[in-house]
Amino acid sequence: MKYNHRLQVVANKELNDSYFLLTLAPFSQEAAFSLPEILPGQFVQVLTEASGAFLRRPISVCDVDYARQQLLLLVQKVGKGTHALAHLTTSDTVDLLYPLGNGFTFPNQSSEAYRPLLVGGGVGTAPMLYLARCMRARGIEPNVLLGARTADLIVMRDHFEEFAHLHVTTEDGSMGVKGFVTDHPALREGAYTHIYVCGPKAMMVAVASLAHKRAISCEVSLENTMACGIGACLCCVENTKEGNLCVCTEGPVFNIDRLQWF
Ligand SMILES: Cc1cc2nc3c(=O)[nH]c(=O)nc-3n(C[C@H](O)[C@H](O)[C@H](O)COP(=O)(O)OP(=O)(O)OC[C@H]3O[C@@H](n4cnc5c(N)ncnc54)[C@H](O)[C@@H]3O)c2cc1C
Ligand code: FES
Repeated sequence: MKYNHRLQVVANKELNDSYFLLTLAPFSQEAAFSLPEILPGQFVQVLTEASGAFLRRPISVCDVDYARQQLLLLVQKVGKGTHALAHLTTSDTVDLLYPLGNGFTFPNQSSEAYRPLLVGGGVGTAPMLYLARCMRARGIEPNVLLGARTADLIVMRDHFEEFAHLHVTTEDGSMGVKGFVTDHPALREGAYTHIYVCGPKAMMVAVASLAHKRAISCEVSLENTMACGIGACLCCVENTKEGNLCVCTEGPVFNIDRLQWF
């Protein structure tokens, strides 16, 4: 079930020059409603109301706090739409179409046979936090590997450390292991059975390739350019082994076995 809700901006926190964290909650002036069930890996389509940016912008659900009825979005400023979101204040509301797409797959409980590694590159960190929270709620203790160019772009470490064992790489070596996520021993040598990835396409392909070679199950969250977000415009299609599929409805999460990457 998809909803079109107007949510209140509860906080809008700048994390560094590029990223900000938007906290939203159901708007109390309208008919009462609660946040719907949202799966980790799903995304929202945000109406930015920036001039010249008339299409909604897809943003992953970064976290959901049902007790406080809050939804978190981690956003990178790249163009008109995201810059407009960066300027929202607590007197603003935003129009969301959500929850969209599928989610990551993971078991209902921990077991020896399930050892997950969550890998987030840059703003691809966003869906990994809610995934880690949901795994932890099922008794699973995930490892998380975050990669960025520099230390200041590694964000929300304290949030991740609540739910996961955290590993970090930076390209300049200012935090964690120097290099790309694919250089980290956790990824190269760790005894994981399942890997979940979101980040720049080159990074996802590199991680997927390692997983493929080591016969580790791997799911990636694609960030193909989107317009409608509901399967109507076909602008987000990915050429998969099953033919052209809309990333907004069939994804954004795909097992790499379905993709034409190798
Ligand atoms: C399923 C999904 C989940 C996403 N989750 C997040 C998230 O959690 N946080 C976040 O900050 N961003 C996320 N993105 C990317 C985000 O949607 C784009 O950065 C945003 O739409 C750009 O809008 P804009 O108006 O600021 O930039 P525009 O003015 O539209 O474009 C500015 C620049 O950004 C590039 N761009 C536009 N769309 C994308 C895209 N989909 N991916 C990469 N570059 C793009 C353009 O090519 C252009 O160079 C996600 C995208 C998808 C498809
Ligand atoms: S964004 Fe329109 S079909 Fe996917």
